[in-house]
Amino acid sequence: MCGIVGAIADRDVVPVLIEGLKRLEYRGYDSAGIAIVAEEAVRRVRRTGRVAEMEAAAGAEDFHASLGIGHTRWATHGGVTEGNAHPHISHGELALVHNGIIENHEQQRERLLALGYTFESQTDTEVIAHLIHHYQSQGHDLLVALQHAVKELDGAYAIAVISKRDPQRMVCARMGCPLLVGLGEGENFVASDVSAIVSATRRVIFLEEGDTAELTREQVRVFDASGAEIPRDVHVSDVSLASLELGPYRHFMQKEIHEQPRAIADTIEAIIDRNSFVSAMFGENAEDIFRDIEAVQILACGTSYYAGLTARYWIEAIAGLPCAVDIASEYRYRQVVANPKQLIVTISQSGETLDTMEALKYAKSLGQQRTLSICNVPESAIPRASELVFYTRAGAEIGVASTKAFTTQLVALFVLTCTLAKLHGRLDAEQEAEMLEALRHLPGSVQHALNLEPQIVAWSERFAPKQHALFLGRGVHYPIALEGALKLKEISYIHAEAYPAGELKHGPLALVDAAMPVVVIAPNDKLLEKVKSNIQEVRARGGEMFVFTDQDSHFSESEGVHVIRTPRHVGVLSPIVHAIPVQLLAYHAALARGTDVDKPRNLAKSVTVE
Ligand code: F6R
Repeated sequence: MCGIVGAIADRDVVPVLIEGLKRLEYRGYDSAGIAIVAEEAVRRVRRTGRVAEMEAAAGAEDFHASLGIGHTRWATHGGVTEGNAHPHISHGELALVHNGIIENHEQQRERLLALGYTFESQTDTEVIAHLIHHYQSQGHDLLVALQHAVKELDGAYAIAVISKRDPQRMVCARMGCPLLVGLGEGENFVASDVSAIVSATRRVIFLEEGDTAELTREQVRVFDASGAEIPRDVHVSDVSLASLELGPYRHFMQKEIHEQPRAIADTIEAIIDRNSFVSAMFGENAEDIFRDIEAVQILACGTSYYAGLTARYWIEAIAGLPCAVDIASEYRYRQVVANPKQLIVTISQSGETLDTMEALKYAKSLGQQRTLSICNVPESAIPRASELVFYTRAGAEIGVASTKAFTTQLVALFVLTCTLAKLHGRLDAEQEAEMLEALRHLPGSVQHALNLEPQIVAWSERFAPKQHALFLGRGVHYPIALEGALKLKEISYIHAEAYPAGELKHGPLALVDAAMPVVVIAPNDKLLEKVKSNIQEVRARGGEMFVFTDQDSHFSESEGVHVIRTPRHVGVLSPIVHAIPVQLLAYHAALARGTDVDKPRNLAKSVTVE
């Protein structure tokens, strides 16, 4: 969603701001803007649409300065208009960018109107700019004015502010939305995501909840929620520039689909090196916690939720522990029956998803303190709020549609399953060796599935003109059908639904006719014969079938039944391999329809609002 970048330096920071905003584009946005302090004036340029359009406007207006802030906005309060785009300015003196939502903005607006402020936008953000200006006008310096203002805000924010009254510094604040400070040589930066500033510096301080900070060229000072100056750790980011570049690929989604063998190999590297499922990989106290728990509760959204649904089959069958999986936005508002002996597992690629974070907080507030985060972004909010952490090593995922994050989440959940099984006496040495062997072969099996791309391209051309599609799976492959339908709808805009194949006759069969393609995930597992019968039910109604199966399933092509064979059955890890063809199908169908694959309409990469 929204992105922030800011810089104070001895050089022109405008190119830094523009590059930073371009690196934040992947998060999803609908307008962009920058503000600078130059020659004792605040200047601003904003545009709806792409950063490139705003860049051209900044070029035309000869924007140069050594202090500035920039923003990509994903509209929440107020439509997609230039007037609602950030930065927002108060009294021509102070400019501010904001991520998050201010819940008490209406009350603040009333108060500020009474104080004589006028409003130019429909956003919740503008009140913050006026509030800080109000405190500045009472004689406080910029930092103190910010500290007073944020005390009056309810909701979530990451804020960066510059003022022409104080042209030698920038101030920022964080509550509920990520914000970090980048440390350079004689220059300093602020950003909502390290990728925005990684070409300028890798040394970063992740601000904590309630922190404010003051940046000059030479110095950064951080203050905690009480206003006391506090030292915060400096981290060196290992985000690689290569993961942020497209390279020879047409889209990030295509690149990330093809990176999966490497992403999986990196994620399992430590396990393969140790040749053992070791609980210490989840954190210091993991062994005690894992031994003590009696059940697992998974919380996540979207694709990450489907990873959780897949894991339920593994955790119950292999580790023998009851496992519940909930959509985070539902769990957080349900009257949950708490179980302190339950391990709360959150799954989030970004580590920022607001609903998942709130579900975690709610679970903890009910006395469920054993928490594990499976996440792809180090130091993000959700792992920081969890006792145990397993980082997937997928590398930066830029395409809005999750691909390599999903398969590495599945790998992490499989490792969790085996570790729990071992500690609960359900995995002897021989079985552990078998599971490790299966993992070792996984990157190769995924590569074989990727090699099916030419056949899938041919299928996708038949899909592209369709309006609707059905996806079917059973057992552990049902969540892969759900994921296939989600991928197809979010990037190609073809309406797609997934059902457990056995459920077809209870309703959805009514939808099947010759115009409805039906994708079936049907590997050679114990439910194969059942799936074959379900396929007959569809064929009998004239539906056209597209079946992904494995080499040893003896599935034959017939009229209206098309078959693509994935590699030999890879046993328990089969859902991971079968995620690949459904990703490729969605990607190529979207390509054929000419949609914006990496930035599908209305969607954002990190969903930091409710
Ligand atoms: C779909 C997709 C989303 C995310 C969901 C959760 O391709 O990417 O459904 O999975 O928004 O995001 P994270 O995993 O960052 O919490």
